[in-house]
Amino acid sequence: MRVLGIETSCDETGIAVWDAGAGLLGHRLHSQSGIHAAYGGVVPELASRDHIRRVVPLTEQVLADAGLGIDELDGVAATAGPGLMGALLVGLSLGKAFAFGRGLPFLGVHHLEAHLLAPALEDNPPDFPFVALLVSGGHTLLAEVRGLGSYRLLGQSLDDAGGEAFDKTAKLLGLGYPGGPAVARAAANGNPSAFDLPRPMTGKPGLDFSFSGMKTAVLHCRKAGPDPSDEGFVADLCASFQQAMVETLWSKAARALAETGLERLVVAGGVGVNARLREHFASGAAELGAELSFPRPDFCTDNGAMIAYAGGQRLLAGGGDSWDRTAVARWPLDELAPPECIPA
Ligand code: KG4
Ligand code: ZN
Repeated sequence: MRVLGIETSCDETGIAVWDAGAGLLGHRLHSQSGIHAAYGGVVPELASRDHIRRVVPLTEQVLADAGLGIDELDGVAATAGPGLMGALLVGLSLGKAFAFGRGLPFLGVHHLEAHLLAPALEDNPPDFPFVALLVSGGHTLLAEVRGLGSYRLLGQSLDDAGGEAFDKTAKLLGLGYPGGPAVARAAANGNPSAFDLPRPMTGKPGLDFSFSGMKTAVLHCRKAGPDPSDEGFVADLCASFQQAMVETLWSKAARALAETGLERLVVAGGVGVNARLREHFASGAAELGAELSFPRPDFCTDNGAMIAYAGGQRLLAGGGDSWDRTAVARWPLDELAPPECIPA
């Protein structure tokens, strides 16, 4: 079974074909970061317009890469939410039109479900059940994942998402957009203990996060410090911020493992690219004897492969068509249910 996956929920156009037997047959990504950099963040209307320009040629390229004709697919999956409404509508409309035109089943995929299933695209995929930590530009949450569509929300950010805190820190320090990679690059030359930044909500029970105070702490350090063109100062502040973020995320993830009694942890979403986070989580998981899985860095950030895979899993499990699934800007993960089998 082969599924075409289409991702257009934010500022990346991602297209892929996933095959239940052979795995990923092709995938391509077009990033809009060059378009939004001048504005310091994603401009929704510009994002929608660029998806419109890119989505059909990118689909044709992926089918050509995979050596497939349009009649060699068995299903089409597109991100239905959560995300930017105009951007979502581009991929969803193409996906529905493609599926309708070819008489194929159509799946409207939940973007966060796709993120947390992404490690299954790698060798040695994690078995269910596991704890998932999802840290992206729009969301930060911990969930207990019992199976496909069976998600119990354990905690989430009460304000900024982890990636958003990286992006805002970069903006405060004049490092540009997207902020996560820029902060990580600057941090590589800095001292992670130079500034004593807060590890919010780690001192009290519970699995929620709050990152807005960390950004304010960075702002105070910047105001009290030398000119932000001082590279050593910026490197130290970035390294200290990154360390505080990584330790905060690990503290809650370790607590989620303890509270659920599970021994497998999956980290997904754009912040999962962060090398310091990967190192810190690897040593923490080794100490606990827990199994740790990440998608490859390209599949931590938004991509079409995770959409094709998530749609494919739902089709394989007997999930039906989602023709009446419209684009949704907000869509809580725990509203999802396991696929309903179509009665024989
Ligand atoms: O999952 P994603 O591609 O998009 C959303 O669904 O939001 O995540 C994007 C986020 C951005 O906030 C970006 O700054 C962050 O992931 N990010 C990173 C790194 N690479 C991307 N954060 C920290 N370190 C990185 N290396
Ligand atoms: Zn995402």
